Amino acid sequence: MAVDQSKAWQKLDKLAKNGAADKHLKTWFEQDPNRAQRYAIELDELFLDYSKNRVDDEILSALFELATEQALPDWIDRLLSGEKVNDTEDRPALHSALRAGSDSPIKGFAASVQSDVKSQFSKMAAIVNKVRSGHWRGYSGKPITDVVNIGVGGSDLGPLMVTQALQTQTSPINLHFISSIDGTQTSNLLKSLNQETTLFVLASKSFTTIDTLSNAETAKDWLEERVPSIKTIMAQHFIGVSTKPYMMTTWGIPPENQLLFWDWVGGRYSLWSSIGFPIALKVGMEGFYEMLEGASLMDQHFAQAPMEQNIPVVMGLIDVWHINFLGIQAKAVLPYDARLRYLPSYLEQLVMESNGKSVNRQGEPVSYKTCPILWGEVGPNAQHAFYQLLHQGTQAVMSDFIAPVERDDFDRYSDTHRSESLRYQHRLALANCFAQSRVLMLGDAAIPENLKSSFDSPFKHYAGNQPSNTLLLKSISAKTLGMLVALYEHKTFVESVIWEINPFDQWGVELGKLIAKDTYQAMLDSGQAGRFDGSTVQLLNRVKLS
Ligand code: F6P
Repeated sequence: MAVDQSKAWQKLDKLAKNGAADKHLKTWFEQDPNRAQRYAIELDELFLDYSKNRVDDEILSALFELATEQALPDWIDRLLSGEKVNDTEDRPALHSALRAGSDSPIKGFAASVQSDVKSQFSKMAAIVNKVRSGHWRGYSGKPITDVVNIGVGGSDLGPLMVTQALQTQTSPINLHFISSIDGTQTSNLLKSLNQETTLFVLASKSFTTIDTLSNAETAKDWLEERVPSIKTIMAQHFIGVSTKPYMMTTWGIPPENQLLFWDWVGGRYSLWSSIGFPIALKVGMEGFYEMLEGASLMDQHFAQAPMEQNIPVVMGLIDVWHINFLGIQAKAVLPYDARLRYLPSYLEQLVMESNGKSVNRQGEPVSYKTCPILWGEVGPNAQHAFYQLLHQGTQAVMSDFIAPVERDDFDRYSDTHRSESLRYQHRLALANCFAQSRVLMLGDAAIPENLKSSFDSPFKHYAGNQPSNTLLLKSISAKTLGMLVALYEHKTFVESVIWEINPFDQWGVELGKLIAKDTYQAMLDSGQAGRFDGSTVQLLNRVKLS
């Protein structure tokens, strides 16, 4: 039976239609002053306030019933023990096995891969330490100063997001990221680098992604301008990270410079694997393991906490309620710290490439909504960009506000005046974070009495009732980042179980890649353009190369 025919789904549908869909958040807070304390969960250095969501006990109870009907606990167990939950590719999705600590309750296939995982990490550690200590030398004998990660999607966004988030941690290595196929990043970056002291990481799970391979070829050409032999280039200026060792060898990367991971690690779930090599270069293996520990802590919480106290479960089910019963189809991710500027981009891939599906596990079209449109921006900046729509637009939007309570990096300045002014800015960011979610929730009810007259205009009406979560991290650290990312991985999985879709494949991206190859050929040979539609022909004629 499809999920939207189930008893719990019908109950939720009735709750929505019998008033819950129209009830305003301010009413729920008026009727239940202790709401905020009840709708909050703390886990180590992470705190979730989910009270500004359009739910109450009756709705939450029906959502937990829905999760039970969908056998969510069994699915969680299957995921974490390494069963083949990625059924269209006949694979497990065992990103959790990469971060399993000694006290993690792992079993089955997840337990069987531990020795492989550990041996790759020790190989990665040896290279990381050699590079960070200056013992990895370039062709002219100088230590490496700059490392360029060449990858895209899951082979870029995870390491990029984490290393940017940890930017206040000093590192002996300058890290750079090239992802885009158009050559802009490559061209700009190579102008500023020196072949003698630059090491490239060619990161690609499939080792077939044209974006990455074309950037890598350009990097190789750049090295060849000064490095005497291709053998030297490959031995001293390229590291490969992939599931395809033979393809890396064929490309020229020697086995000793290859870091491996496995098909049972999805690209967008791979920052915990050798793909996280740049993270380890940034914070050392110690920091990398701290990140794994944070994720492992969230894994154990996800596996063991009762649903009502389970952060990924609660957040996932509430979004299902908003999407499938309140018709909210947009989700904003709003970090109130510029170090998290790439978190929205990372989550765009994690969430929309996982759950942007319209066919269920049996291959049948679903009759209900699945993944929302997810986007985001550093919150304070977004307040000067799209908050007008959030406050006075016609779209219902659910939001996740994310902020660090402490900024321990601001205390480092000897100039106490500078530290104080920076601490003031951090407090301003927090005040804005809390204020914005309050106004989104209350609308006009948030207007202070003494200002009511100046807002007495139809152009200054705030409808409010926009739901949100607020996630507070003690501080931004490798550990809290591990917790946060694992939280969203598991939340995404919870939603996929309710929607009966496979979050671990991505067939939707294949056709575009294939058509692009044909289109490129037609660009070179206009005789081939005839088989395209009129618009494509017209556009091709504008860039005629032949
Ligand atoms: O977008 C499609 C995709 O396959 C992503 O899932 C993946 O993260 C990205 O391209 C890069 O793939 P690869 O790591 O194999 O180069």
